[in-house]
Amino acid sequence: MTVHLKQDEPDTSNRLDGMKQGVIGQPISRVEGLAKVTGTAPYAAEYPIEGCVEGVLATATITRGEILKIDKDSVLGMPGVIAVIDDPRLTTRAAQGTANEAPQQSPRTVCYWGQPIALVVAETFEQARDAAKHLAVEYRPDDGAPLSPDAVEPEEQEDETVRQGDLVHAMSEAAHSVDVTFTTKGHASAAMEPHAAIAQWDGDQLTVHASLQMLNYNISELADAIDLPEEKVRLVSRFVGGGFGSKLGVSEETVAAAIAAMQLERPVRVVMSRQQVFQCIMRRSETTQRLRLAADQKGRLTGFGHEALVSNLPGETFAEPVLQSSHFLYAAQNRKLMLEVARIHRMTAGSVRAPGEAVGMPALEGAMDVLAERAGIDPVELRLRNIPKENPEEGLPFSSHKLAECLREGAEAFGWDSGPRKPRQKREGEWWVGTGMASAARVHNVGEAKARVTLKPDGTALVETDMTDIGTGTYTILAQIAGEMLGLDPENVLVDLGDTRHPRGPGSGGSWGASSSGSAVYVACKALREELADRVGVTETELDLADGKVVGGQSLAQVLAGEPLAREGHYEPGAIADDFTAAGFGAFFAQVRVNHFTGESRVDRMLGAFGFGRVLNRKTARSQCLGGITWSIGAALTEALEFDPRDGHLVNCDLAEYHVPVHRDVPDLEVIMVEERDPAASPIQAKGIGELGMCGGAAAIGNAIYNACGARLFDYPMTPDRVLACMPD
Ligand code: MOS
Repeated sequence: MTVHLKQDEPDTSNRLDGMKQGVIGQPISRVEGLAKVTGTAPYAAEYPIEGCVEGVLATATITRGEILKIDKDSVLGMPGVIAVIDDPRLTTRAAQGTANEAPQQSPRTVCYWGQPIALVVAETFEQARDAAKHLAVEYRPDDGAPLSPDAVEPEEQEDETVRQGDLVHAMSEAAHSVDVTFTTKGHASAAMEPHAAIAQWDGDQLTVHASLQMLNYNISELADAIDLPEEKVRLVSRFVGGGFGSKLGVSEETVAAAIAAMQLERPVRVVMSRQQVFQCIMRRSETTQRLRLAADQKGRLTGFGHEALVSNLPGETFAEPVLQSSHFLYAAQNRKLMLEVARIHRMTAGSVRAPGEAVGMPALEGAMDVLAERAGIDPVELRLRNIPKENPEEGLPFSSHKLAECLREGAEAFGWDSGPRKPRQKREGEWWVGTGMASAARVHNVGEAKARVTLKPDGTALVETDMTDIGTGTYTILAQIAGEMLGLDPENVLVDLGDTRHPRGPGSGGSWGASSSGSAVYVACKALREELADRVGVTETELDLADGKVVGGQSLAQVLAGEPLAREGHYEPGAIADDFTAAGFGAFFAQVRVNHFTGESRVDRMLGAFGFGRVLNRKTARSQCLGGITWSIGAALTEALEFDPRDGHLVNCDLAEYHVPVHRDVPDLEVIMVEERDPAASPIQAKGIGELGMCGGAAAIGNAIYNACGARLFDYPMTPDRVLACMPD
């Protein structure tokens, strides 16, 4: 039996507060943690499947052009080689990461350097890899392909454009104004687990174990790519070693494994090398962003301009949504926002770790720091003065809004000095030491989700959904929600995820996973409670469950009378999405030291204060924030995709050359969770958490670099060479 909840109004009847069990919010350790640390949690490539052969992708060595010939005979005689699959469907889908249809590329066309073009299958991985390297391919290259955004005329994304009032006039009348241009480099998702898939036939059913974020979307993508009806496909992603956007869509390893398994009638495994993950999987676009801020004497914004240039391949629909939170973060009557896309031949640009705000907010918050300095106003105070009462463009109320609280509580806990701020006030030996801050903002997303919850006579419950846990803590928080609602210890709730045979939902992405799938579990549990209440003759609100018992009455086993009881919850965001602007807010504070002679920057300590609705588990939520802040450090100081200007190939395609922060780069991080309930954001009153920690954090570091040593940089990442070039004598 399915119970449908379409949320059209704020849900103030929420049942998660005041339950007897009291497990919501508890910092319990992740329930699958033991399996992970003991190596018994299988990732996509780790299923022992009899007779499985190994496929390795061969990739293009030109940037753009036609493939004239793939010479299979060049490798078919090599040891162990079974087949070369050059089915054009293998490359019909670029890893896209949006719910939009990827364009069908002509099968023999290469669009970017490193694009997969064939799969070599052999008995062992080493044999397949060797043969893939030796595969002879004849190309007709097209040398005129634009490789850099400044080489082409960009296209305006008109639905992003906002023009209100007269920004130019506001700038000319302003008591204080800022007109600056920031740049950010491309980023890689850089998940620990490389993209991998094993495809296998059972009768006429294709089962694919893959590393994916959104199974309900991926199953139709894959079915479509290989011309099979969806009912014949089963996708399994029980454990996913990080996604960060790179596994939102299926990519070539999954399509190739499926096609090869069909053609060879054997199970086939395809694992991308680290280099292939970098070269074939979508990148975050580099950006160029002009910020114009006009303010009155008191620092109140009268004009706000944010114009951004990003890039993608021709025909791709995704454009890094740089302006996403700029639409509502600060009030100003005169506004101009514009997003443009340059069509160039680097690999597909798509969703990477907080698409939009991850790069938009560092630019905006860097510009705000310049304004604070020019206006002589403390940076925290400047933000406080510019918090709008409602969405300044659309006039919608905010569903909940804790920016002011985060700014104040964060400043207090960090020990922010609200006195006059001048650079170069503190030096320790070769090191200048300074502090900086920034606001955080990230839109809140939710999606339609279904989950089945079965209460069993042995006093346990089973939660089933195709939702994925990409390292975020989904297993744990769903056990907590069901445990809370049903009066069970979360240890007695078995959560079964990542299988398209289960009720489906939006998966993991855009920080929507917990509030979407959590709400589906909540709806299912509420229906179970109604049935139990009915059986014991009380109303659902009167029903007190704890420790596997109806409080003051029978055990659940007795009420169930030996029969399992199941309900499917179906949550759907309804009209409410049009009535509110929903977003997570926060504040970052950083202390950074900068070496006067080498330009090296080191984060001494960093604090993030965040308001993101109900906290379902203080430990897993905090871990999400720590991860986000760590990305902030990477975006500020180290992470940059570098492309060869001659042929557009990605130069730094491994974790030795593409620098994600390592333990040595990540100091003491403090997280403050400013609790709130958001009855409009989701039925469980939670908002997204995962990405917020990256949305603005890089600016806190950049602003601290300026405060430390007086070098004002407008280009992220702020590497030592760039810092030195701006260092005053
Ligand atoms: Mo996220 S970059 O939407 O997985």
